[in-house]
Amino acid sequence: MLKQNWIIISIVGGLLLLLFSEIMEATNTPEQKIPELKQDAWIAPSLYLDRSLEGKERELVIYGEELIANTSKYLGPKGSVAAVTNGMNCQNCHLNAGRKSWGNNYGAVAANYPKFRDRSGSIETVYKRVNDCMERSLNGKALDSNSREMQAMMAYIKWVGNDVVKDSTPKGSGIQPPVYLDRAASPEKGSIVYSAKCQSCHGANGEGLLAADGKSYTYPPLWGSNSYNSGAGLFRLSRFAGYVRDNMPLNQASHNAPALSDEEAWDVAAFVNSRPRPSKDLSGDWPNISKKPIDHPFGPYTDGFSETEHKYGPFKPIIEARKKQQKQKSA
Ligand code: HEC
Ligand code: HEC
Repeated sequence: MLKQNWIIISIVGGLLLLLFSEIMEATNTPEQKIPELKQDAWIAPSLYLDRSLEGKERELVIYGEELIANTSKYLGPKGSVAAVTNGMNCQNCHLNAGRKSWGNNYGAVAANYPKFRDRSGSIETVYKRVNDCMERSLNGKALDSNSREMQAMMAYIKWVGNDVVKDSTPKGSGIQPPVYLDRAASPEKGSIVYSAKCQSCHGANGEGLLAADGKSYTYPPLWGSNSYNSGAGLFRLSRFAGYVRDNMPLNQASHNAPALSDEEAWDVAAFVNSRPRPSKDLSGDWPNISKKPIDHPFGPYTDGFSETEHKYGPFKPIIEARKKQQKQKSA
């Protein structure tokens, strides 16, 4: 009897010890990153849950979302409404119709526009900002602000950012650049990254892949005649590298678990943005040339760095030089 008890006690004890060490191991494994708290990031509203939107207003918001997700179907080269864009979708660069944290979302738009932007040197409305992407990212034509399409996209973008406090920018909105390198970004190194990690979807010549209907892209182009033009945000290395680091390859990378190192992100950005693409007349941009972003690749500049340095970096010396300029001005 006594012997039997001892056997049971040692079996149970052994099992407990095993369980305990299992738990310890699980919590100590270094590869396991603690996920970032959800409430830190912005949570986009849901059309299904938001029943306050009704009737015509609801229809307009739904059409706006549809236009942003499937732009090409309506506004692409074979679009049912008008042929005014290159065939890309807004969603290609504003993931989940602009609702994904760190996916270049629209969370901050309603709360921050109209606002002054240095690129145009003027106060910009959301209409103007959407048309900027129409003319640059979609290499197309501006929409009339009274058109149903513009009204719908506006209504949707406003609704998406409804809960964001005026003049605030939620974490995870827009694009954050990766950590700056101590060297210039390298198109040669980026070409190797591209072949290994991008080409399978975006194509050997960056041409993307058209869907069977020939109207929209399954994988959007990264360069060539159907891609964004030289005036687009993604043509700046920090925008491209930041977007790609947090989101590409699609569904295999996230802000918390990127698939590329910071170096790879900068290098692949340098490679893609050294390939041919449509150009845009930018003579009206940045009327105050001292306000050009550090990675705006077209001079003239006031900081003494060349166009090549502004295109590929290294960016830290430019940031330093600008800080000094700033100090001298205020002294
Ligand atoms: C090729 C990529 C691309 C496409 C396609 C694109 N955009 Fe953009 N968009 C950008 C980038 C890059 C920015 C600037 C983000 C930044 O600098 O943080 C931007 C910014 C914006 C902003 C301002 C966001 C803010 O917080 O200030 C709006 C609004 C916008 N886009 C709407 C649209 C709409 C609507 C479409 C489709 C008609 C579209 N975009 C298509 C890349 C794109
Ligand atoms: C598994 C397929 C896949 C891989 C691999 C992939 N992408 Fe993408 N990429 C996509 C899809 C699909 C989209 C459009 C997303 C959407 O519309 O929801 C996209 C969008 C983009 C965009 C914005 C739209 C455009 O065409 O300009 C860029 C930039 C981009 N990818 C760069 C890259 C880079 C750089 C790599 C390699 C590091 C990469 N992608 C790897 C599928 C992929």
